Amino acid sequence: MNKGLELKNCRVLVTATTFGKCDPSPLPVLEQSVGEVIHNPLGRPLKAKELLELVKDIDGWIAGLDEINWEVIRAANRLKVISRYGVGVDRIDIKEASRKGIVITNTPGSNSVAVAEMTICLMLALARDLINASLSTKHGEWPRLEGVGLKGKTIGIIGLGSIGKEVVKRLKCFKCEILVYDPFVNAKEIEALGAKPKPLDQLLSKSDFLTLHCVLTPDTAGMVNEDFIRKMKKGAFLINTARGELVQEEAILKALNEGYLRGVALDCFSKEPPSGDNPLLKHPKVIATPHMASHTDEAILRMSWMSFENCLKVLKGERPQFIVNPEVFGSET
Ligand code: DGY
Repeated sequence: MNKGLELKNCRVLVTATTFGKCDPSPLPVLEQSVGEVIHNPLGRPLKAKELLELVKDIDGWIAGLDEINWEVIRAANRLKVISRYGVGVDRIDIKEASRKGIVITNTPGSNSVAVAEMTICLMLALARDLINASLSTKHGEWPRLEGVGLKGKTIGIIGLGSIGKEVVKRLKCFKCEILVYDPFVNAKEIEALGAKPKPLDQLLSKSDFLTLHCVLTPDTAGMVNEDFIRKMKKGAFLINTARGELVQEEAILKALNEGYLRGVALDCFSKEPPSGDNPLLKHPKVIATPHMASHTDEAILRMSWMSFENCLKVLKGERPQFIVNPEVFGSET
């Protein structure tokens, strides 16, 4: 860990697209505190090749959902901290960053309510075919659409981290049966929240709505494949506000076309933004949103200030509150 830098000599890159878009904003404070703030030139999460030049000679980085692979980390010749604006660190090569003594921080809990609310919003929108209803009404039609209610339905939640827990709390007032699969959480904790722990296969076969809240790891990547979907209840709805790579998009397209899945809501895609010719975007049974579940005013405020504080602390040589690779702390860069 560095002994602390003179902040006025530091260059900080900000690629998180909504960082500081809040009141009060940490951006003016950041600009006054450090020597130079470099902004995201494209206004969207950046690909590795777009980052290679930008990361040269930066000391700190407030990062969004950018592709921070080993090449980018190697190009960052004096970087001390990657301060993730948000929680997931799956797009960062943590091993390479740690090897170079770069501290990675994140903002746990900052957006769990926002993502949980978006999940419920998508669930209700699927249940009532809300997006098609709105589009056709605006086009001058007056269709008689049918929906389903949430009361009495079984909801399967995969992953009981802070977002999954917020989803459970909100679903309780809809009087649903809530099933949870999370191999890292003990049954008592799940029951204490008012949900039922279930093995994955049982959860899949019983759930009318399935929502993903697990972390992307080599074990979970592509887990929603054909086999997984066949274990789901026929006519179920699927919601993904976690990571696009959890899902094999061709498998859900096939299941939708065969009428096996009744509807799917995706806030994230395996490639972001998805190509314009991705058939899921045109599918009438798909609600697609641009990885925005965490973007409420309140969550932006928390993510902005937490990522700002984490970044400045590391630059000053202090221990930040949320460190993803604590083993780096204490070792010289
Ligand atoms: C997260 O917290 O990782 C969300 O995907 C938004 O960045």
